[in-house]
Amino acid sequence: MLRLGVNIDHVATVRNARGGAYPDPVRAALLAESAGADGITAHLREDRRHIMDNDIDGLMAALKTPLNFEMAATDEMQAIALRHKPHAVCIVPEKREEKTTEGGLEVAREENRLAHFIAPLRDAGCRVSIFIGADQKQIEAAHRIGAPVIELHTGAYCDFHAEGKFAERDEELARLTEMAQFAHSLGLEVHAGHGLTYDTVQPIAALPEVMELNIGHFLMGESLFVGLESAIKEMRHLMDDARSD
Ligand code: PXP
Repeated sequence: MLRLGVNIDHVATVRNARGGAYPDPVRAALLAESAGADGITAHLREDRRHIMDNDIDGLMAALKTPLNFEMAATDEMQAIALRHKPHAVCIVPEKREEKTTEGGLEVAREENRLAHFIAPLRDAGCRVSIFIGADQKQIEAAHRIGAPVIELHTGAYCDFHAEGKFAERDEELARLTEMAQFAHSLGLEVHAGHGLTYDTVQPIAALPEVMELNIGHFLMGESLFVGLESAIKEMRHLMDDARSD
């Protein structure tokens, strides 16, 4: 079955706009679980612009489904992950000035450091995934450093769709398709995410190698209009529908 991980970062973005206690990302996570999410994803950024340290404490205490803890490959984040030992840790690149995680991790460029970085996380029982673009060189490097999972960055595919650049979108989808197959052939578990919407989710959900999608920003926006539960149920329905075809 294709799992849906719901990213609740932007509940915290709205909360932090006023600096108070609401809306509470933990409450959103519990609602997401009851609406059919198979897991919750949260990204603790270095600048704490959305999720904050006590949100991770709250999620670890309250969740019934696995937490996928997204983080940069820094010593500070490694120590936090080792303290909490979440089910999954997803290593992402992070730039202070970016609005969101713009690209995949350059694993090949810092293979040695990353191999040493993820080893203690794996030893602590966390399922480590590496967020990367649809690039064979990066997938091979992720495999060499001993990561059991990769998450393919679907942002470019979604951006091309939104901009009406359908030829480029289809080329990127072809790359994602080929690289999902390639990663699977190496024995890696394949996840995907970033920027997915009702309009873009189905071709990705249809890829048989993909085991999990992580989706946040669109769901939070849509929930303003239809509620979080309905937004998640519709996404789940579209995923299941694409998978059954
Ligand atoms: N997967 C990863 C690794 C991400 O960094 C993000 C964004 O935080 C997502 C999935 C979800 O992306 P979006 O919020 O655009 O759905």
